[in-house]
Amino acid sequence: MRIIFIGPPGAGKGTQAKRISESYGLPQLSTGDMLRAAKTKGTLPAEIAAIMASGGLVPDAYMVELIAERIKLPDASKGFLLDGFPRTSEQADKLGAMLAANGHKIDVVLALDVPEELLIERAIYRRTDKATGHIYHLKYNPPPLGSDLEHRPDDHEDVVRHRLSVYRRMTAELLPYYETQGLLRRVDGVGSVDEVYGRIQRELPEKLAQQEGLRV
Ligand code: AP5
Repeated sequence: MRIIFIGPPGAGKGTQAKRISESYGLPQLSTGDMLRAAKTKGTLPAEIAAIMASGGLVPDAYMVELIAERIKLPDASKGFLLDGFPRTSEQADKLGAMLAANGHKIDVVLALDVPEELLIERAIYRRTDKATGHIYHLKYNPPPLGSDLEHRPDDHEDVVRHRLSVYRRMTAELLPYYETQGLLRRVDGVGSVDEVYGRIQRELPEKLAQQEGLRV
């Protein structure tokens, strides 16, 4: 099963993708996490780190190469959940070609809908535990006392607003792209994490839904 998550910054893609990944045993391929891990390791080129910090999109060629290498790894051979890729129609075309070359295809595209003011609130109060990578929210899902937390440089309000405008300009075009292929499922992303997860489960193809219970 190959799933794509699309949604604006702060929509809850990472939160929900992690949960589905754990429940169904599918690897979560988060391009944002991959780029941040490379930065921590010191292997991310400085110009790419600067693009991320400003809230812009990393060039397509770099991202396509990153994903092409990642999906070749054995854990992704039977399926995966893409969180943050593709983000442009160029990336979507390249992904489709990569999969088709191996006789594979995308099974479902989940799009999380959340109003803009809530997105901003979700992003600017997000904090990540430096040791575990767990995502918290200072208001909706507060971290335990004494946690060592990180505030992403691109989660400051001006950068979040810029990321939203980039999403509207470059990524939202993927919704009609996948809708015409009959793959798009829109999910209301407002509500508790459990409520949103329940809605997502109802949109998953039967094949995957049947696995629930085996992996949790
Ligand atoms: P990336 O890391 O992918 O960022 P994003 O898409 O902007 O998404 P976010 O991580 O901000 O939000 P999310 O939807 O995952 O929300 P989350 O679950 O954390 O990309 C970062 C950068 O990398 C990009 O700007 C770009 O520069 C580069 N990049 C990455 N991929 C690229 C690509 N393919 N092409 C080009 N460039 C690329 O939730 C947010 C907060 O809300 C959390 O605090 C969470 O606890 C809380 N929350 C979640 N759900 C709920 C709920 N139901 N109720 C209350 N709170 C909730």
